[in-house]
Amino acid sequence: MVLSAFLLLFLSTELAAAHRILFLSPISTRSHTNFVKPIIKGLVERGHFVTYWNGLLPKNQGTNALNQTTNLRLLYSPELDALSSDHNVDFSAGTKNFYLLFELPKRVELYCKTIYRDPVFHQLMASHEKFDLIIVEAAVNECILPLVYKFDAPFIYTMGAMPMPWHLDAVSSPLAFDHYSHVGSAYKDEMNFWQRTYNTLTGILAVYYWRWIVMPVADHLAAETLHIENLPTMERIENKYLSLLILNTNLGLNYQMATTPAVIQAGGINLGPAKPLPHDLEKFVSDSGDAGCIIVSFGSLLRNSDIPDDVRHIFLSTFARLPQRILWKWEDESKIRHGESIPPNVKLMSWLPQADLLGHPKMRLFITHGGVNSIQEAVYHNIPLIVLPVFIDQPINAQKAQDDGYAIRLDWDNLTEEILFNAIEQILTNSSYAEKMEKVSELIRDQMETPLDRVIYWIEYIIRHKGAPHLRTASRKLSLHQRFLFDVMLFVVLVGILMFSVLTRVLRYFSCKGKIQKCDLKKKN
Ligand SMILES: *[C@@H]1O[C@H](CO)[C@@H](O)[C@H](O)[C@H]1NC(C)=O
Ligand SMILES: *[C@@H]1O[C@H](CO)[C@@H](O)[C@H](O)[C@H]1NC(C)=O
Ligand SMILES: *[C@@H]1O[C@H](CO)[C@@H](O)[C@H](O)[C@H]1NC(C)=O
Repeated sequence: MVLSAFLLLFLSTELAAAHRILFLSPISTRSHTNFVKPIIKGLVERGHFVTYWNGLLPKNQGTNALNQTTNLRLLYSPELDALSSDHNVDFSAGTKNFYLLFELPKRVELYCKTIYRDPVFHQLMASHEKFDLIIVEAAVNECILPLVYKFDAPFIYTMGAMPMPWHLDAVSSPLAFDHYSHVGSAYKDEMNFWQRTYNTLTGILAVYYWRWIVMPVADHLAAETLHIENLPTMERIENKYLSLLILNTNLGLNYQMATTPAVIQAGGINLGPAKPLPHDLEKFVSDSGDAGCIIVSFGSLLRNSDIPDDVRHIFLSTFARLPQRILWKWEDESKIRHGESIPPNVKLMSWLPQADLLGHPKMRLFITHGGVNSIQEAVYHNIPLIVLPVFIDQPINAQKAQDDGYAIRLDWDNLTEEILFNAIEQILTNSSYAEKMEKVSELIRDQMETPLDRVIYWIEYIIRHKGAPHLRTASRKLSLHQRFLFDVMLFVVLVGILMFSVLTRVLRYFSCKGKIQKCDLKKKN
């Protein structure tokens, strides 16, 4: 009796705290999914009812197991899975962030059109459910914002990497161009005058470009396809409902930036002790002797087997000279040129349990593209890096890791066997990399609460306080020109010009007054 009363009390408090949350990431990548998966799992374990629409169909383990629970509903769209599985990017042309930026309107158009004809989108649009909160994956999912308007609920952006300037602008967090480089300029935090100028001008242009060129593409398509009466622009929906920005950054790993209280840094959320490896992989790794193992993976966004022939050849001939065993993420063996031999110490695998491998005691080095999750996993497990960045945030991540002394950054353009071999030798023989790595590893472990606890706290906080409007800075009421202080600068410049012209007139007047004849003479001439 007492027990059941207690149970009832327990259940009712549980229920009182349980909220309905809609998680939207129709356009997704594996790495961004990896960042939000622990958040969804955490919310479900806290008893919240989560509806999760991810463009990517769950692969292997992970969210699939979550679907067994009663308070998680997974929505699935085959057409979006095809789109999110292949974002049509490759290794060519080195760092091409500006090219990606100019391509954005075309991409947004494709993404919006695909989302607006998806049955799941219309199922949600027609639904009479109520949600206490909506969470949106911030990387090019703006087309989904009409759902936020429809459900009339506060929303949160999660960003699976460092923020783009327009993400910070959306919560009106300082853009801090004096010390925070955006991904397009990819400088360190200490910039000289020209770098600061370039970073500021291109950063401001990027925000205007986003607001004036990219977002209107989504507005236009929404108006054309959805026929919702009085549908506000995406920017207005953002401004009215956006409550929080959750970033995959970490104080010990990323460059520092000033933020408003509405920005939460949750990098490292998916880190944890390594799990045992599958049997055959464990054997390959543990039989590597004292020399140990090296992992090579350039992430999931790029297909590793698209690496150009000449670079692949450099890798293979370098690996052939090493005593280490090498595990290389390589999706498509048919891409290996006919007759080309794979050295016996190299194992190609279409999928790697990367974090678990990095946690294996035989691991010595990780050769990576410098994606944020890869760097976090390597740092957590104390494995020094060779980074060959391709685009987006990877060049900045690589630069920071090299500056902090636990990685060597190499370039795709001028990679040679000697450069690669020397870099590998440096990392394997020079203890300075491991020592620096140890320090950063301690930093990312030293946090007041786990990143997951922090994120769950803030998500529930936003729900408890109905969007927490008190966290907003007044800057969100300003126009873009006012926010960048263009009006103030214009005023100062105009006043400066005015004062200068008044001053020169006054000076001329007085200098003439003293020497009337001279001025008169001048006039005559
Ligand atoms: C999740 O489970 C439900 C019910 O078991 C099923 O209908 C649905 O297809 C599953 N979703 C995914 C993405 O596996
Ligand atoms: C390789 O190219 C990059 C620029 O693409 C340059 O900064 C670097 O110094 C070059 N390295 C070598 C060894 O030539
Ligand atoms: C080890 O690496 C550090 C940092 O790159 C460098 O300053 C030092 O000269 C290296 N030592 C040797 C013996 O190569």
